[in-house]
Amino acid sequence: MSQERAVAYLRAILGFAFLSLLLPTVAATRDDVPADVRKLQNPVTLEASELRYYHRQYKGKCKRCHGPDGSGRGADADRTGVPPANFTDRDYMSSRSDGELFYQIMMGGGSRCAMPDFGPESDHGWTEDKVWHMVAFVRRFAQPAPK
Ligand code: HEC
Repeated sequence: MSQERAVAYLRAILGFAFLSLLLPTVAATRDDVPADVRKLQNPVTLEASELRYYHRQYKGKCKRCHGPDGSGRGADADRTGVPPANFTDRDYMSSRSDGELFYQIMMGGGSRCAMPDFGPESDHGWTEDKVWHMVAFVRRFAQPAPK
């Protein structure tokens, strides 16, 4: 093998090793949700009369990271460790179960990312019912607008 080719080889290998170090921090989705929680389906429906309330909660507590449009490009999005989920991405959102979204809002990002926790034990102290309503609210970003 010529020296040039050997160098090119080495570069490719190092580049790959470097990329595989970076990739998990960029693209990873949490996979530590307990199986019984992952299976849960949202027990509540968000009524039209509740929309304003949850929109206000979203604006106050979620928008700075997830963005006003749910795209994950809020003002603080570059300071969260892993990027905030993009709620408008239909393929991504349909790959996530209700239970997985619920778990994230209950528990926050923990050591994974800067998302705070909102469950009953947290400073925010939301009830499980409120968290389920919020799951229904964030799902709306990936749903077609009602006609
Ligand atoms: C400080 C920034 C920040 C705030 C504030 C924040 N989030 Fe997040 N959120 C994130 C990040 C970062 C992720 C990606 C987490 C990961 O991959 O672990 C995420 C992921 C999520 C997910 C997706 C979990 C999945 O399974 O893909 C949901 C649902 C979610 N957030 C809901 C909310 C809601 C609702 C609020 C407000 C009540 C909120 N977040 C507030 C940063 C934030």
